[in-house]
Amino acid sequence: MDDETLRAAVAGHHWFHSIALRPGIVTPGVKTPDIMAAEEEALFGPLALGGLSVLDIGAWNGGFSLAALRRGAARVLATDSFTWDHPWFRGRAAFDLACAATGLVPEARRLDPTELPAGLEPFDVTLFLGVFYHLRDPIPVVAALGEVTRLLCLLETHEDAAEHERPAMVFYPGRELADDPTSWWGPNPPLVRALLAQAGFDRVLRRPHPLPDVAPSRGMYAAFRPDAPVAMVQPFRDAGWS
Ligand SMILES: C[S@@+](CC[C@H](N)C(=O)[O-])C[C@H]1O[C@@H](n2cnc3c(N)ncnc32)[C@H](O)[C@@H]1O
Repeated sequence: MDDETLRAAVAGHHWFHSIALRPGIVTPGVKTPDIMAAEEEALFGPLALGGLSVLDIGAWNGGFSLAALRRGAARVLATDSFTWDHPWFRGRAAFDLACAATGLVPEARRLDPTELPAGLEPFDVTLFLGVFYHLRDPIPVVAALGEVTRLLCLLETHEDAAEHERPAMVFYPGRELADDPTSWWGPNPPLVRALLAQAGFDRVLRRPHPLPDVAPSRGMYAAFRPDAPVAMVQPFRDAGWS
Protein backbone atom coordinates (compact mmCIF):
# COMPACT_ATOMS: atom_id res chain seq x y z
CA MET A 1 0.00 0.00 0.00
CA ASP A 2 1.54 3.36 -0.97
CA ASP A 3 1.58 6.28 1.50
CA GLU A 4 -1.35 8.09 -0.11
CA THR A 5 -3.54 4.98 -0.04
CA LEU A 6 -2.59 4.28 3.57
CA ARG A 7 -3.33 7.88 4.64
CA ALA A 8 -6.77 7.62 3.01
CA ALA A 9 -7.44 4.32 4.76
CA VAL A 10 -6.37 5.78 8.12
CA ALA A 11 -8.68 8.77 7.59
CA GLY A 12 -11.61 6.38 7.24
CA HIS A 13 -11.38 5.18 10.83
CA HIS A 14 -11.90 6.49 14.36
CA TRP A 15 -8.66 6.13 16.32
CA PHE A 16 -8.26 5.89 20.09
CA HIS A 17 -4.55 5.05 19.87
CA SER A 18 -1.82 6.97 18.10
CA ILE A 19 0.20 4.27 16.34
CA ALA A 20 3.24 4.90 14.17
CA LEU A 21 2.44 2.89 11.06
CA ARG A 22 5.47 3.90 9.02
CA PRO A 23 7.73 6.97 8.88
CA GLY A 24 5.50 10.04 8.58
CA ILE A 25 2.20 8.22 9.14
CA VAL A 26 0.77 8.08 12.66
CA THR A 27 -2.87 7.29 13.41
CA PRO A 28 -4.62 10.37 14.88
CA GLY A 29 -5.57 8.87 18.23
CA VAL A 30 -7.62 10.44 21.01
CA LYS A 31 -4.60 9.29 23.03
CA THR A 32 -1.89 11.48 21.50
CA PRO A 33 1.59 10.11 20.74
CA ASP A 34 2.82 11.77 23.96
CA ILE A 35 0.13 10.03 26.05
CA MET A 36 0.79 6.69 24.37
CA ALA A 37 4.54 7.03 24.93
CA ALA A 38 4.11 8.01 28.59
CA GLU A 39 1.72 5.13 29.30
CA GLU A 40 3.82 2.61 27.38
CA GLU A 41 6.99 3.62 29.20
CA ALA A 42 5.31 3.62 32.63
CA LEU A 43 3.82 0.16 32.09
CA PHE A 44 6.45 -1.63 30.03
CA GLY A 45 9.60 0.25 31.06
CA PRO A 46 10.20 -1.91 34.16
CA LEU A 47 9.29 -5.13 32.31
CA ALA A 48 11.53 -7.36 30.21
CA LEU A 49 8.90 -8.55 27.74
CA GLY A 50 11.26 -10.64 25.62
CA GLY A 51 9.86 -14.13 25.10
CA LEU A 52 6.72 -13.60 27.19
CA SER A 53 3.10 -14.20 26.18
CA VAL A 54 0.71 -11.26 26.55
CA LEU A 55 -3.09 -11.10 26.69
CA ASP A 56 -4.47 -7.61 25.94
CA ILE A 57 -8.03 -7.35 27.30
CA GLY A 58 -9.86 -4.42 25.71
CA ALA A 59 -7.19 -3.85 23.08
CA TRP A 60 -9.28 -1.47 20.86
CA ASN A 61 -6.89 -0.26 18.10
CA GLY A 62 -4.13 -2.49 19.45
CA GLY A 63 -1.63 0.21 20.41
CA PHE A 64 -0.43 -1.71 23.46
CA SER A 65 -0.58 -5.11 21.72
CA LEU A 66 1.69 -3.79 18.99
CA ALA A 67 3.97 -2.12 21.54
CA ALA A 68 4.34 -5.46 23.35
CA LEU A 69 5.34 -7.15 20.10
CA ARG A 70 7.80 -4.34 19.32
CA ARG A 71 9.30 -4.89 22.77
CA GLY A 72 9.92 -8.56 22.09
CA ALA A 73 6.85 -10.40 23.38
CA ALA A 74 6.80 -13.89 21.89
CA ARG A 75 3.02 -14.02 21.56
CA VAL A 76 0.27 -11.42 21.92
CA LEU A 77 -3.46 -12.12 21.88
CA ALA A 78 -5.53 -8.96 21.43
CA THR A 79 -9.15 -9.20 22.54
CA ASP A 80 -12.07 -6.81 22.57
CA SER A 81 -15.80 -6.61 21.97
CA PHE A 82 -17.49 -3.27 22.67
CA THR A 83 -15.48 -1.00 20.38
CA TRP A 84 -14.71 -3.82 17.92
CA ASP A 85 -18.41 -4.50 17.41
CA HIS A 86 -19.52 -0.87 17.62
CA PRO A 87 -20.88 0.40 14.25
CA TRP A 88 -19.28 3.85 14.63
CA PHE A 89 -15.99 2.92 16.32
CA ARG A 90 -15.43 -0.14 14.03
CA GLY A 91 -12.45 -0.84 16.26
CA ARG A 92 -11.64 -4.27 14.83
CA ALA A 93 -11.28 -2.88 11.29
CA ALA A 94 -8.95 -0.14 12.57
CA PHE A 95 -6.98 -2.74 14.56
CA ASP A 96 -6.63 -4.90 11.43
CA LEU A 97 -5.42 -1.89 9.42
CA ALA A 98 -2.80 -1.03 12.07
CA CYS A 99 -1.54 -4.61 12.09
CA ALA A 100 -1.36 -4.80 8.30
CA ALA A 101 0.39 -1.44 8.01
CA THR A 102 3.00 -2.17 10.69
CA GLY A 103 3.57 -5.77 9.64
CA LEU A 104 3.20 -6.76 13.29
CA VAL A 105 0.76 -9.59 13.73
CA PRO A 106 -0.82 -10.17 17.12
CA GLU A 107 -3.42 -12.89 17.37
CA ALA A 108 -6.93 -11.48 17.70
CA ARG A 109 -10.10 -12.87 19.20
CA ARG A 110 -13.47 -11.26 19.72
CA LEU A 111 -13.93 -11.66 23.45
CA ASP A 112 -15.89 -9.65 25.99
CA PRO A 113 -14.09 -9.27 29.35
CA THR A 114 -17.15 -10.69 31.10
CA GLU A 115 -16.57 -13.99 29.24
CA LEU A 116 -13.17 -14.52 30.88
CA PRO A 117 -11.52 -16.92 31.55
CA ALA A 118 -13.16 -18.20 28.35
CA GLY A 119 -11.09 -21.40 28.35
CA LEU A 120 -7.83 -19.49 27.92
CA GLU A 121 -4.62 -20.97 29.23
CA PRO A 122 -2.82 -18.44 31.48
CA PHE A 123 -0.68 -15.82 29.75
CA ASP A 124 2.59 -14.62 31.30
CA VAL A 125 1.34 -11.02 31.26
CA THR A 126 -2.19 -9.67 31.03
CA LEU A 127 -3.14 -6.09 30.20
CA PHE A 128 -6.38 -4.74 31.67
CA LEU A 129 -5.99 -1.10 30.74
CA GLY A 130 -8.86 1.36 30.90
CA VAL A 131 -11.46 -1.39 31.15
CA PHE A 132 -12.39 -1.83 34.86
CA TYR A 133 -14.70 1.19 35.10
CA HIS A 134 -16.49 0.34 31.85
CA LEU A 135 -17.81 -2.89 33.34
CA ARG A 136 -21.10 -2.73 35.17
CA ASP A 137 -20.02 -5.79 37.16
CA PRO A 138 -16.21 -5.66 37.28
CA ILE A 139 -15.62 -7.83 40.34
CA PRO A 140 -15.97 -11.28 38.68
CA VAL A 141 -13.80 -10.05 35.81
CA VAL A 142 -10.98 -9.10 38.20
CA ALA A 143 -11.36 -12.55 39.78
CA ALA A 144 -10.96 -14.09 36.31
CA LEU A 145 -7.76 -12.09 35.78
CA GLY A 146 -6.17 -14.35 38.37
CA GLU A 147 -7.10 -17.38 36.26
CA VAL A 148 -5.70 -16.05 32.97
CA THR A 149 -2.50 -14.51 34.40
CA ARG A 150 0.58 -16.66 35.05
CA LEU A 151 2.94 -13.93 36.30
CA LEU A 152 1.84 -10.29 36.02
CA CYS A 153 -1.33 -8.33 35.43
CA LEU A 154 -0.98 -4.66 34.49
CA LEU A 155 -4.22 -2.84 35.32
CA GLU A 156 -4.93 0.83 34.62
CA THR A 157 -8.10 2.56 35.75
CA HIS A 158 -9.97 5.72 36.53
CA GLU A 159 -10.15 6.16 40.32
CA ASP A 160 -12.36 8.01 42.79
CA ALA A 161 -13.21 7.96 46.52
CA ALA A 162 -9.59 8.67 47.51
CA GLU A 163 -10.88 10.30 50.70
CA HIS A 164 -11.92 6.84 51.97
CA GLU A 165 -9.25 4.67 53.58
CA ARG A 166 -11.46 1.59 53.39
CA PRO A 167 -12.04 -0.19 50.06
CA ALA A 168 -14.78 1.72 48.25
CA MET A 169 -15.98 2.72 44.83
CA VAL A 170 -18.32 5.36 43.48
CA PHE A 171 -21.19 4.34 41.18
CA TYR A 172 -21.97 6.55 38.20
CA PRO A 173 -25.53 5.62 37.18
CA GLY A 174 -25.62 8.06 34.25
CA ARG A 175 -23.11 10.17 32.37
CA GLU A 176 -21.33 11.53 35.45
CA LEU A 177 -17.90 10.38 34.30
CA ALA A 178 -16.72 12.23 31.18
CA ASP A 179 -20.29 12.29 29.84
CA ASP A 180 -19.83 8.59 29.03
CA PRO A 181 -22.78 6.28 29.74
CA THR A 182 -20.43 3.26 29.57
CA SER A 183 -18.40 4.37 32.59
CA TRP A 184 -19.89 2.91 35.76
CA TRP A 185 -17.36 2.90 38.59
CA GLY A 186 -14.65 4.89 40.31
CA PRO A 187 -12.75 2.51 42.62
CA ASN A 188 -10.25 3.76 45.20
CA PRO A 189 -6.76 2.23 45.49
CA PRO A 190 -7.58 0.09 48.56
CA LEU A 191 -10.46 -1.47 46.62
CA VAL A 192 -8.37 -2.28 43.55
CA ARG A 193 -5.63 -3.73 45.74
CA ALA A 194 -8.15 -5.84 47.69
CA LEU A 195 -9.82 -7.22 44.55
CA LEU A 196 -6.48 -8.12 43.01
CA ALA A 197 -5.36 -9.79 46.25
CA GLN A 198 -8.60 -11.82 46.34
CA ALA A 199 -7.93 -12.82 42.73
CA GLY A 200 -4.70 -14.49 43.83
CA PHE A 201 -2.12 -11.77 43.22
CA ASP A 202 0.17 -11.85 46.26
CA ARG A 203 2.10 -8.64 45.54
CA VAL A 204 0.23 -5.59 44.25
CA LEU A 205 2.09 -2.39 43.43
CA ARG A 206 0.60 0.92 42.33
CA ARG A 207 1.79 4.10 40.72
CA PRO A 208 -0.17 7.16 39.64
CA HIS A 209 -0.76 7.76 35.94
CA PRO A 210 2.46 9.23 34.47
CA LEU A 211 0.83 12.44 33.19
CA PRO A 212 0.58 15.01 36.03
CA ASP A 213 -2.83 16.33 34.95
CA VAL A 214 -4.26 12.79 34.81
CA ALA A 215 -2.49 11.39 37.89
CA PRO A 216 -5.06 12.62 40.47
CA SER A 217 -7.80 10.51 38.87
CA ARG A 218 -6.07 7.45 37.41
CA GLY A 219 -3.81 4.71 38.77
CA MET A 220 -1.71 1.88 37.38
CA TYR A 221 -1.30 -1.46 39.15
CA ALA A 222 1.29 -4.20 38.73
CA ALA A 223 -0.19 -7.32 40.30
CA PHE A 224 2.06 -10.37 40.59
CA ARG A 225 1.04 -14.01 40.86
CA PRO A 226 2.92 -16.25 43.33
CA ASP A 227 5.02 -17.69 40.47
CA ALA A 228 6.40 -14.25 39.52
CA PRO A 229 10.09 -14.11 40.43
CA VAL A 230 11.50 -11.32 42.58
CA ALA A 231 13.57 -10.32 39.55
CA MET A 232 10.33 -9.39 37.78
CA VAL A 233 8.97 -7.41 40.74
CA GLN A 234 12.07 -5.48 41.73
CA PRO A 235 12.33 -3.26 38.61
CA PHE A 236 8.80 -2.00 39.33
CA ARG A 237 9.79 -1.16 42.92
CA ASP A 238 12.94 0.51 41.59
CA ALA A 239 10.76 2.60 39.24
CA GLY A 240 8.75 3.90 42.22
CA TRP A 241 5.74 1.54 42.18
CA SER A 242 4.71 0.76 45.77
C1 LIG B 1 -10.82 3.37 27.43
S1 LIG B 1 -10.72 2.04 26.29
C2 LIG B 1 -9.14 1.37 26.70
C3 LIG B 1 -8.41 0.83 25.50
C4 LIG B 1 -6.97 0.38 25.79
N1 LIG B 1 -6.95 -0.80 26.62
C5 LIG B 1 -6.19 1.50 26.42
O1 LIG B 1 -5.93 1.47 27.63
O2 LIG B 1 -5.82 2.43 25.71
C6 LIG B 1 -11.87 0.92 26.98
C7 LIG B 1 -11.87 -0.48 26.37
O3 LIG B 1 -12.77 -1.29 27.10
C8 LIG B 1 -13.54 -2.06 26.20
N2 LIG B 1 -14.80 -2.47 26.84
C9 LIG B 1 -15.06 -3.70 27.29
N3 LIG B 1 -16.29 -3.78 27.79
C10 LIG B 1 -16.83 -2.57 27.66
C11 LIG B 1 -18.10 -2.03 28.00
N4 LIG B 1 -19.05 -2.76 28.60
N5 LIG B 1 -18.32 -0.74 27.72
C12 LIG B 1 -17.37 0.00 27.14
N6 LIG B 1 -16.15 -0.46 26.81
C13 LIG B 1 -15.89 -1.73 27.06
C14 LIG B 1 -13.70 -1.17 24.99
O4 LIG B 1 -14.03 -1.92 23.83
C15 LIG B 1 -12.34 -0.51 24.92
O5 LIG B 1 -11.45 -1.26 24.14
